[in-house]
Amino acid sequence: MEPVWWDGDAVGYIDQRRLPGSLVRARAATVDEVVEAIRTLAVRGAPAIGVFAAYGVAVARRTAGGDDEFRAAVARIGAARPTAVNLRWAMDRLSGVEAGAELAEALAIHEEQRDVDRRIAEHGATLLPEGAAVMTYCNTGPLATGAGGTALGVIIEAARLGKKPRAIVPETRPLLQGARLTTFELAGAGVPATLIADGAVAWTMRTLGVRCAIVGADRIARNGDTANKIGTLAVAIAAAHHRIPFYVAAPRSTIDFSLSSGERIPIEERDPDEVRRFGGVATAPDGTPVYNPAFDVTPSCLIAGIVTEFGVCRPPYDESIGDLETRPSKLLAELAKR
Ligand code: MRU
Repeated sequence: MEPVWWDGDAVGYIDQRRLPGSLVRARAATVDEVVEAIRTLAVRGAPAIGVFAAYGVAVARRTAGGDDEFRAAVARIGAARPTAVNLRWAMDRLSGVEAGAELAEALAIHEEQRDVDRRIAEHGATLLPEGAAVMTYCNTGPLATGAGGTALGVIIEAARLGKKPRAIVPETRPLLQGARLTTFELAGAGVPATLIADGAVAWTMRTLGVRCAIVGADRIARNGDTANKIGTLAVAIAAAHHRIPFYVAAPRSTIDFSLSSGERIPIEERDPDEVRRFGGVATAPDGTPVYNPAFDVTPSCLIAGIVTEFGVCRPPYDESIGDLETRPSKLLAELAKR
């Protein structure tokens, strides 16, 4: 199921806010619609945001009156959400192509994502023990990347290889990406999954014998500090307490080589009503003060490995991630020879 595609003169997408109840296909034919789809999480997940935004630039090229309007439109798309660095990465990449070549570049980015996700899945699957309960978090499957998925792609690949993983899926409040999207994708892939409340993370590690955890990322600093969906840090801390390896799976495009640590990763804060209400129903008194960060940062000391399309980066991350910055094409060439 493609979550994002080019639709002739607009970018098509599955409205993820409506899943799993309804499979609604929509299209963004204007820059306003592109920005709105990203802002409202109709399209979400760091790599999928990058792919969708790249198509959005092609929309901007078709609809903008001139270069100034085009540049302003690209800036608006780039600012639609602050934490997932794949958005900026896609904008930077598009800014390097000639006028009129934006759609071809967006299609190339989308195609590359399929290859990248396949490699992440292959590398990551080697880390999962046979027959293990594996905790994940949020949603990192095909819906979140526009291709095969990152952390969820690893679990699905392990299942395909006959390793019989059993996924443990925290619901991921307040927007329930785990409950709504991850269980939906795992059911589609035929992988057994157990949904738990977010508050059950630590206890489930103990009682269901979780053997490892693997999550995605929205931005990774050079030292391995990783921003991901709010609640990820709690999973990492609980994993450390139970001596369970905690892995991150993400493409190189999620690494922000300009940041030496996670301290300066911008953390999106969202509408308080996401916490005070659910599905239009109040779950707290009106006006209750709310703190609603959409992401947290897990320090690299809690991360056993970062799975990328180039292989598994291990601590010290300054070195292993530094390798990805300076030698990506060499590593790709090496991989191609195998
Ligand atoms: O707010 P979301 O749903 O866009 O957050 C998504 C996540 O945090 C994912 O774990 C991350 O983007 C990686 S998706 C492969």
